[in-house]
Amino acid sequence: MNENQEALRRPWRRVLLAQGLAVVALLAAVYLLALLSPLRLSLWLAALLQGALAAAIGWRLGLSRWWLWINLAFLPALWLLQQAALPGWLYLLGFALLLLVNWNSLGERVPLYLSGRRARQQLGEWLAAREQPAHFVDLGCGAAGTLLHLARRFPRGRFIGVESAPLLFLLAWLRCLSQGNCSIRYQSLWHTQLAPFDAVYCFLSPVPMPRLWAKACSEMAPGSWLISNSFAIPGVAPDARCELGEGRQTELLFWQMGGADIR
Ligand SMILES: C[S@@+](CC[C@H](N)C(=O)[O-])C[C@H]1O[C@@H](n2cnc3c(N)ncnc32)[C@H](O)[C@@H]1O
Repeated sequence: MNENQEALRRPWRRVLLAQGLAVVALLAAVYLLALLSPLRLSLWLAALLQGALAAAIGWRLGLSRWWLWINLAFLPALWLLQQAALPGWLYLLGFALLLLVNWNSLGERVPLYLSGRRARQQLGEWLAAREQPAHFVDLGCGAAGTLLHLARRFPRGRFIGVESAPLLFLLAWLRCLSQGNCSIRYQSLWHTQLAPFDAVYCFLSPVPMPRLWAKACSEMAPGSWLISNSFAIPGVAPDARCELGEGRQTELLFWQMGGADIR
């Protein structure tokens, strides 16, 4: 993995650095102010200043734009919540729920967002045009909305969802209990053998795509299809694409495994 990819994988180090440096700079400023003048900062103003500093430092450290808003709002939001005097366990519960849903945001750099209506519809059209019932896997199936939609539409197909965020897995598993042709595995996509599937669908992020392509090339059967919602594989042109135009979901990209000789 080169330096840029490593930096992409671990922005939270820069976030922590930005927050830490902003706290140190603010403490120094408050100390100097106390020494040199009778002025005193209110806690609210101090939190706002720290947020602005953290956002500026994060920007200098090359964080993407949405992190700047998080850096800016973090301490002021803590201050506001403190004013609400909520019981301590609520914070713990909120943290635990966020962690169990966003399990793969930090390590894998893949947060939860869902395939839209048009993506589901286009996947359905693509499956309908095939002769054989599909053996389909959704790598990182979230709460299994897309998978269930397809499983209901194609009762002769077999649909597998793979998910490693604990709460999402539980939701997906419960939702699919009554759908006989659909099942969910609590498993990392990196430990999922891709050979049995003739269609492998994913909606992940730019970060895992090169590694996923290497895995697909070594495991998927000739003639089977890798389908990615919106995220390309650097340097590998897709065999087909289908426009979505649903907010950030730009297109479905299709690669047929086995190279030009089977097309
Ligand atoms: C952007 S969401 C897509 C959800 C669903 N496939 C859809 O299209 O609506 C990506 C999902 O992949 C899951 N994920 C990320 N890395 C994973 C991994 N290594 N193994 C299994 N699931 C993973 C995340 O927890 C998240 O639920």
